[in-house]
Amino acid sequence: MKGIILSGGASTRLRPCTKVTSKQLLPVYNRPMIYYPINTLIKAGIKDILIIISPDRSGDYLNLLGSGRQFGAKFSYEIQDKPEGLAQAFIIGRNFIGKDNVAMILGDNIFEDNFSKDIKKFKKGAKIFAKEVPDPERFGVVEFGKNMKVISVEEKPAKPKSNYCVTGLYVYDNKVVEMVKNVKPSARGELEITDLNNLYLKAGELKAAMVPGAWIDTGTFDSLLEAQILAKNKLQDKFVI
Ligand code: TTP
Repeated sequence: MKGIILSGGASTRLRPCTKVTSKQLLPVYNRPMIYYPINTLIKAGIKDILIIISPDRSGDYLNLLGSGRQFGAKFSYEIQDKPEGLAQAFIIGRNFIGKDNVAMILGDNIFEDNFSKDIKKFKKGAKIFAKEVPDPERFGVVEFGKNMKVISVEEKPAKPKSNYCVTGLYVYDNKVVEMVKNVKPSARGELEITDLNNLYLKAGELKAAMVPGAWIDTGTFDSLLEAQILAKNKLQDKFVI
């Protein structure tokens, strides 16, 4: 299993703090934000990691993270010229993925849990991780049937079919590099990961698990503040890097 951290994007909601730096380099308590997803992958046993970044911040990432040796990992880098969607990671990352399966995590997502069992168990298809939230319309939303069977996944629906949102950790088998070629840009001009997940759903190969512990998408000032507090109070002993 290889890993991708998607750490580009425009971060318009955190302006002016992101005018001269990348969101994922901002501090979350005592570490740069991207240390959290790096830690999540490394704890899950994934040490060969591609970090996808925007062109104007690439030097900062290299200076901060380098080869990955200091973390006991191997980091590679690719540039995403424009933020054209989460699913674009599998086009940009095609050569890196090679013949392997791949876990992708968003650079601004902070998880408390250890996913090593899910990663070890994974064989084929796609797996997403859901969390109950009060405001599902802000996210991808997953609807469940019996025994956690996925019935639907919808991107930011006006009328969500459940309160379970899709968090920023996704695991795919090697077919993803072919499947993603069938994803067309959405109305907002992005290659949507929800469309990719729907292709796996149609093929009967999309599974979901619950995220038991805390999860924060740090895209807004309020969620960033929440993440700082979570990091101070609950995440300090969760670091292996
Ligand atoms: P978002 O929070 O959806 O987008 P953003 O970070 O650009 O912020 P804003 O909405 O405030 O403008 O992105 C989620 C994560 O995915 C974040 O870590 C950035 C990353 N991302 C990319 O790297 N490339 C992309 O094309 C997109 C859409 C997001």
